Amino acid sequence: MKYNITQKKDIGGTDYLLEVEAPQVAERIRPGNFVVLITVPNGERIPMSVQKAEDGKIAMFVKKLGKTSRALDACGECTTLEAVVGPMGKPVELKKFGNVVFVSDLVCGHAENYLFSQVFSKIEGNHMISMQTFPTKDEIYPEEYLAKGLCDEYYLTTKDGSVGLKGHYLEKLKELLDEGRCDIIFGGGDIPSLHELAKLTRPYEVPTIVTVRQIMVDATGMCGSCRVFVSGEMKLSCIDGPMFDATKLDFEDIISRLGMFKEAEAKAMEWCKQQQECK
Ligand SMILES: Cc1cc2nc3c(=O)[nH]c(=O)nc-3n(C[C@H](O)[C@H](O)[C@H](O)COP(=O)(O)OP(=O)(O)OC[C@H]3O[C@@H](n4cnc5c(N)ncnc54)[C@H](O)[C@@H]3O)c2cc1C
Ligand code: FES
Repeated sequence: MKYNITQKKDIGGTDYLLEVEAPQVAERIRPGNFVVLITVPNGERIPMSVQKAEDGKIAMFVKKLGKTSRALDACGECTTLEAVVGPMGKPVELKKFGNVVFVSDLVCGHAENYLFSQVFSKIEGNHMISMQTFPTKDEIYPEEYLAKGLCDEYYLTTKDGSVGLKGHYLEKLKELLDEGRCDIIFGGGDIPSLHELAKLTRPYEVPTIVTVRQIMVDATGMCGSCRVFVSGEMKLSCIDGPMFDATKLDFEDIISRLGMFKEAEAKAMEWCKQQQECK
């Protein structure tokens, strides 16, 4: 069975929106889950966060990084994906927390920010606060892809200050923490920024549940590549996560493992360019 691509378009920076028909996945996706895509026969399995699941379709934000994400972007005639597997991972509990904050500063974080804002703002008793950081004005997504219209309170920051507040969401988040306005924080983004988030929130003892983008190979708990340590206990991101309390994670270990396939990824990218499949 193939999965029809219903939309593929650039949305800002090196990111593109990918929308796929996958009714069985769409109806079961919950905040905290992710999906695994296989773009071509015998292709690698790439994990993706979901931005929206509606009308039998799921939408994702994809960053053009290496071979698979770039080849899919460049392939004009590709109208289907080989597989869309999911929902994977453990969803978060949907309940009243009070002040729920979602912070994001990278493509997978922005997708989740949208989905969490959409779902948590509808749960009575929650006040949903969303914060999104982009590098600069030119890389901000069109408004319909931001969490802005879905939450009760919204903060946009750009690192260069070209739009919204200047700097990273961390500065505004510190203000909210000092005012005692965060009951739970969810977050997505790159590992170094999640590490900074954990350092900020730890003294306030506010649960800080983040998506760990540890490298996944099979995403079924068999290979061990996505292992992380939570309060000293080994967990697998693909089946026990991918969301964990950042204040309990061993970030040094996660960071030390991020480059483990660098050489193979560089070779795959070189090959892709030679075949003229990647821009
Ligand atoms: C739970 C989860 C959710 C994710 N959500 C998104 C998302 O919403 N949008 C998005 O663009 N990306 C997301 N990613 C990362 C995405 O899976 C990788 O960017 C993708 O696999 C890159 O494949 P590639 O062949 O294009 O690049 P490659 O050349 O294979 O890799 C380029 C870089 O991407 C990272 N990467 C590669 N493979 C993986 C992997 N299997 N898991 C994690 N990181 C990897 C590494 O840092 C690597 O150096 C997510 C990863 C996880 C684990
Ligand atoms: S990706 Fe293999 S165990 Fe998680």
